[in-house]
Amino acid sequence: MAVGFATATHRGSGDFEANITLVVIVSCILAANGGLMFGYDIGISGGVTSMPQFLKKFFPVVYKKTQEKGIESNYCKYDNQGLQLFTSSLYLAALTATFAASHTTRTLGRKVTMLIAGLFFIVGTVFNAAAMNLVMLIIGRILLGCGVGFANQAVPLFLSEIAPTRIRGALNILFQLNTTIGILFANLVNFGTAKISGGWGWRLSLGLAGVPALMLTLGSLIVVDTPNSLIARGKLEEGKAVLKRIRGVSNVEPEYLEIVEASRVASEVKHPMRNLLRRRNRPQLVIAVCMQIFQQFTGINAIMFYAPVLFNTVGFKSDASLYSAVITGAVNVLATLVSIYSVDRLGRRLLLLQAGVQMFLSQMVVAVVLGLKVKDHSESLTKGLALLVVVMVCTFVAAFAWSWGPLGWLIPSETFPLETRSAGQSVTVCVNMVFTFVIAQAFLSMLCHFKFGIFIFFSAWVSVMSVFVLFLLPETKNVPIEEMTNRVWSQHWYWRRFMDNDENGHA
Ligand code: BGC
Repeated sequence: MAVGFATATHRGSGDFEANITLVVIVSCILAANGGLMFGYDIGISGGVTSMPQFLKKFFPVVYKKTQEKGIESNYCKYDNQGLQLFTSSLYLAALTATFAASHTTRTLGRKVTMLIAGLFFIVGTVFNAAAMNLVMLIIGRILLGCGVGFANQAVPLFLSEIAPTRIRGALNILFQLNTTIGILFANLVNFGTAKISGGWGWRLSLGLAGVPALMLTLGSLIVVDTPNSLIARGKLEEGKAVLKRIRGVSNVEPEYLEIVEASRVASEVKHPMRNLLRRRNRPQLVIAVCMQIFQQFTGINAIMFYAPVLFNTVGFKSDASLYSAVITGAVNVLATLVSIYSVDRLGRRLLLLQAGVQMFLSQMVVAVVLGLKVKDHSESLTKGLALLVVVMVCTFVAAFAWSWGPLGWLIPSETFPLETRSAGQSVTVCVNMVFTFVIAQAFLSMLCHFKFGIFIFFSAWVSVMSVFVLFLLPETKNVPIEEMTNRVWSQHWYWRRFMDNDENGHA
């Protein structure tokens, strides 16, 4: 997720002299851990909540409902606020932690913030894997959420600052790719651990999060802080020395001067949030906020969080549900690669619009199949129809993964001007976490009440967001980041009216 350029401390028009050095490569591996950790947390909860032993221990009421045939509606077996809280509490904590994280990234630097994230992840993982009761389980999720809040603010920032300009864009989507790999890894782990006899497989599932957590922690001890962060905190000489080391060239003066200048400009903005609310920053703000709300209202996390539960609901056995979740996880990774390849060729708008049609159609097919075939108390789908549902879910996930997944993060990060970039990024992460929380907390109850209509609900949202893209989202492909105002906003049929206002924010 979250990405790039969130700092108000760099980036000009120049592509400075730079080699791709070992330090930069090590940093990419670090990013992998931040993204993997985030993805692992997204993917692990659904599989765990569909494991009978886990339910028996922590949610006996839900367990009973899943065992009794014909009493509870198929759609309502998992409708339980506590069970949803197990998934959603992480995002609530992440959202809160984002505020603290934006402070520590600024005052203590990216490196220390990543270390804090790693420590939260480790303690959270221990609580989860060793949980004896629901309280321990939820505390563990909250700690992991704090880790996500800190990591998602610091790691992408760290990456975008340490990378040479020419690979910054690709790195931006690489973070998303790592998130999808984390989700897939979690799906695979659940598939394996569900088979462990003795009923402790869920502990292993939750405990294996310790691997990326430990790697992130150790990694953050090894790496240097970014030159941008050092310079912004007044450590000019150290910043210059680090810049030389990471670029692997001796003449870093032009880049160094630009960072110093950008730091100065950024430090003059005394009230970043108030600045963000000015009329002339309205287009970017509206787009960033809408992109996050829309990204979550595609319904993607209904699948990412609850695919095994969902497949179980429509009649798959436990094994087949976990297996199907692995397939959707793999499609998610592969389709993200498509995005990396095509985003600067086909452009953002085309990907979003094409995906809108594909997501709409696949959700409608799922709604029709479930509407006709999955009744409250009837038995499962036939093999052919079950396959059709899995194929349609995959078609939906693929479309998301080459559009709203990465672009939901990329577009806000590339449209804010330097002076609002940092505040803009915090708002972007926060809004995303709020709506991720909402979906995590509400989906199983919505499934119970809307039944197959839940997919019609999401497809209606997909139509709304596609219309938004069609009329209000300008193309930002190949536009240098500091030229957005002149080349994009001032040219747009609607947003240009926000560009000709005075400094006090009046039109
Ligand atoms: C979203 C997550 C989602 C993931 C799926 C990300 O861009 O922010 O909420 O789970 O994509 O790959």
